[in-house]
Amino acid sequence: MVKISIVGTGYVGLVTGACFAEVGHQVICVDNDLKKVETLQAGGIPIYEPGLEEMVKRNVANGRLRFTGKIADGVNNSEVIFIAVPTPPKPNGDVDMSFVERVAREIAGAMMEYKIVVDKSTVPVKTGEKVGATIKRYNKHKVDFDVISNPEFLREGCAVQDLMQPDRVVIGVGGPRPVAKMKEVYTPFNAPIIVTDINSAELIKHACNSFLALKISYTNALSVICEASGANISDVVHGMGLDKRIGRAFLNAGLGYGGSCFPKDLSAFVHIAEALGYEFRLLKEVQQINADQIQLFLKKVHDTLWIVKDKTIGVLGLAFKPNTDDMRLAPSLEVIRPLQKEGAKIRAYDPKAMEKAREVLPGVEFCDDAYAVATGADALIICTEWDEFRQLDLEKLRSVMNQPIVLDGRNLYDPQKMTELGFVYKSIGR
Ligand code: UDX
Repeated sequence: MVKISIVGTGYVGLVTGACFAEVGHQVICVDNDLKKVETLQAGGIPIYEPGLEEMVKRNVANGRLRFTGKIADGVNNSEVIFIAVPTPPKPNGDVDMSFVERVAREIAGAMMEYKIVVDKSTVPVKTGEKVGATIKRYNKHKVDFDVISNPEFLREGCAVQDLMQPDRVVIGVGGPRPVAKMKEVYTPFNAPIIVTDINSAELIKHACNSFLALKISYTNALSVICEASGANISDVVHGMGLDKRIGRAFLNAGLGYGGSCFPKDLSAFVHIAEALGYEFRLLKEVQQINADQIQLFLKKVHDTLWIVKDKTIGVLGLAFKPNTDDMRLAPSLEVIRPLQKEGAKIRAYDPKAMEKAREVLPGVEFCDDAYAVATGADALIICTEWDEFRQLDLEKLRSVMNQPIVLDGRNLYDPQKMTELGFVYKSIGR
C-alpha cells in the first residue's frame, strides 16, 4: 500500500484517485474548488464516467479514499503526490502552465520530509525541469524530493477501464531513487512499466495523441478520395486495419476529432516543436484536415437541403464522442451553430450530454429521445455514434419525419439498407 495524494479532481485526477484506492492504496484527492470538494464528500460525482460513481462510493466507504480542500493535508499524509490539474490552451495555442506552477509552489511550501512529486497533467517536454526548479525555490523546509513524469493515457468514456487495464505505464525519472516506490504504485495494474528520462516520458504523451489524431485525419482525407472515386471508406479501412503494422483502431472516418485533448494537444505540440526550432508541418495538416471535415459536411447538408433557412433539422448526438457528457470542442457545436445562423430550427437529443449542451447551445430545442427529434424534421444529422442510435427502429423514424433525409456524420448505418428503407442517406466516404 502506498500513501498517495492527487492534486486536481478533474477527469484525470478523480478517476486516477478512485482506481489507486481500488487496488489498495490510501488516497487523498485535493481540489481548491471547495464546492466540488463538498459535493464529492457528500457522495456526488461531478462528471459522468461509466463505473466511476460505484468505485468512488466503495472506496470512500472502505476508508481508502477521501477528499480535501487543503493541499497541506494531502502533502503531509502521503509519500507520492500527483499533479493532475488542467493545462488549457492559451488563445495562441500555446499551453497555459500556470495551474501546474501554482500547485508545484504550494506542494513545495507544504513538504516537511522527502516526497515524490509526479506530474500527470499533459505538459510540454522539459516541464519536469521547471517543476523541479520551482519546488527547489519554494521548498520552505529544505527537504529532499524527486520529480517524476507519469503521463496519463485514459480516454473519456472508458476512463476507469483504461486506468485499471492500461496498455503501459510510463515513468520518467531523473535518477533511480523513486523508481521502486513508483513500481509499487503501479504493480497492481499488471501492465508493462516503462522507465525512461523525464523529457522522453513527457514527449511520449504528445507523440501518442498526435499520432492518433494523424490516423483520424489520414482516414478522413481518404474518405474524400473515396467519395470522389466511388470507393467505400469502410472497406478501405477494413483492408488497411488487418495489416498488423497499421491496426484497425482510430481509422473511423467522420466529423473529425474533438474533445478536450486532441485539439489542445496538437496545438501544443506544434508550438513546442516551434519553440525547439522545428516546424511540424505534418501536424498542421492534420489540424487543417480535421477542420475541413466540418466544412465538407456542412456542404453536404447544403447540397442536400439547398436552403436551410426555416427548415427543421434534428441532431442526434451532441457529446464530442459516445459514452461521455463532455461537450468541449464537440464537432456537433460546429455543425449546429452555422445552421442556426442561417435560420434553421434545430432540435436535438443526446443520451448524456443534454444538460451540458443546454449551456452552450442557446436556441436549440432539446427533445426526450431520437423519435421526438425526428418528428416533423426536414432532415436528421448524426453527430455522435451512440450505441443507442444503432438500435433505432428506422422505419418508425422515417414515418415520423417530414422528409426522410439522414446526413450521417459517423457512418452508423448501412447505406444500402437505408436506401431500401426509403431514406435519402448520406454518410462520410461511402
Ligand atoms: C484522447 C486519447 O485517446 C487519450 O489517450 C488521451 O489521454 C486523451 O485524449 P479522448 O479525448 O477521451 O482521449 O477521446 P478518444 O476516444 O481518443 O477520441 C478522440 C476524438 O477522436 C473523438 O472526438 C472521437 O470522435 C474522434 N475519433 C476517434 C474519430 O473521429 N475517429 C476514430 O477512429 C477515433
